[in-house]
Amino acid sequence: MHRTDIRPIIDEKRPKIYIETYGCQMNVNDSEVILSILQDEGYALTENMDEADVILANTCSIRDNAEQRIWGRIDQFRLQKRKRQGVVIGIVGCMAERLKDKLLEGHEVDIVAGPDSYRSLPALLRAVTPDTPQINVLLSHEETYADISPVRMDRNGVSAFISIMRGCNNVCSYCVVPYTRGAERSRDPQTIVREAQQLFDCGYKEVTLLGQNVDSYYWKDASGADKDVNFAQLLEMVAKISPELRVRFSTSHPKDISDEVIYTMAMYGNICRHIHLPVQSGSSAMLEKMRRKYDREWYLERVRKIRSVIPDCGITTDVIAGFCGETAQDHADTLSLMEEVVFDSAFMFAYSERPGTLASRKYPDDIPYEVKTERLNEIIALQGRMSLKSNEKEIGRRLKVLVEGASKKNAEELCGRASSNKMCVFPSRGEKAGDYCEVEVVSVTSATLICKRID
Ligand code: SAH
Ligand code: SF4
Ligand code: F3S
Repeated sequence: MHRTDIRPIIDEKRPKIYIETYGCQMNVNDSEVILSILQDEGYALTENMDEADVILANTCSIRDNAEQRIWGRIDQFRLQKRKRQGVVIGIVGCMAERLKDKLLEGHEVDIVAGPDSYRSLPALLRAVTPDTPQINVLLSHEETYADISPVRMDRNGVSAFISIMRGCNNVCSYCVVPYTRGAERSRDPQTIVREAQQLFDCGYKEVTLLGQNVDSYYWKDASGADKDVNFAQLLEMVAKISPELRVRFSTSHPKDISDEVIYTMAMYGNICRHIHLPVQSGSSAMLEKMRRKYDREWYLERVRKIRSVIPDCGITTDVIAGFCGETAQDHADTLSLMEEVVFDSAFMFAYSERPGTLASRKYPDDIPYEVKTERLNEIIALQGRMSLKSNEKEIGRRLKVLVEGASKKNAEELCGRASSNKMCVFPSRGEKAGDYCEVEVVSVTSATLICKRID
């Protein structure tokens, strides 16, 4: 089945499906896979929950507050059921996988489906009745949805996600993902290249290759080891589609990012100069407890390597504050690493214990809430200064920006991202989303580069 139209079907006569997506980029892409499967079953997308026959929430379990938000949404969905008989409520994704039939108890949820069971959604929908909820939370060692062309739900038709692998084998001690997404498996590279080519043919200008740990992508070819494909080779295959197609990827794991990947990035101007390289902590003792399999020195060496080969490479990160047993010195080590690296931006979180993980079994969640919050706030404040510092270095530089649309604050200005992933705003000359513009940075904030036109 290869769809040529990658846009959602909007059709008044078809039964309607409404999808809310939470969590990471992989979930966004999974929702597009789900829509593709359900369109083939005769459903059409609606953006209005009040007219939906089926309400789906594609959920995230990464931190407790992510799940709390979804419980709140489930209450809202139940009100829809009171208003309109026959509405089906489905909880899919990571929280479905984690909580399984607990979601069916007294919550008026009709369908529970985990990340590897989306092909069974049509059958679950056919079988469901008000008295017989349906559940499929089987995880798979093979499923990559390789043959399914996701129906793109983004609005601007410029940038799309392509999942290149699923699951994770790393078992970082704090993390629920290996339990919700199962074992790591890589997707056939030919299907990835075909999907990227199809997007380019439809006018897309940027693809982001997604995996929990893209550096461990590895396709074993049945016809012989010389046909195997690693992540650097996959990147090159996608970059070769066209110099006009930008290629991004996420997430890189510091223990696995190889020199070959860094050199491949340097060789192709259309592979964006940005690496999301989550450090989690600057303390080697914490990193060991987190089971990240690298230490502070290793991380700093990888950063030096990246910058020596690609001096203008954006480096962003994730940081966890207040992991089990974190001392004031461990926290200070995180701050000093952040000052040493000067990340362009960061996602920063307070540690949230997840049931079933190694950390929850082995280490008490012993950093008091106030201390976690104080440390997190310090980390956020420092990153604000570091983002500004990193942006100030851009002043006077010339950048090629892919237009995303009008700037939110001023309709006469455009916004878009530079190769480094930094957000730029600049005066419009009537370009539209998907056009490239040459600009020069004139001033900055911690979040944005303010530019003038030079083309
Ligand atoms: N695969 C990616 C991360 C996926 S989860 C990687 O290995 O880098 C995204 C981020 O959520 C993680 O990088 C981590 O910073 C954060 N995170 C994961 N589990 C968490 C937890 N239990 N508490 C707080 N933050 C967590
Ligand atoms: Fe979680 Fe670690 Fe896997 Fe990332 S690499 S998804 S943090 S277990
Ligand atoms: Fe959340 Fe699952 Fe992604 S737990 S971060 S949606 S892999």
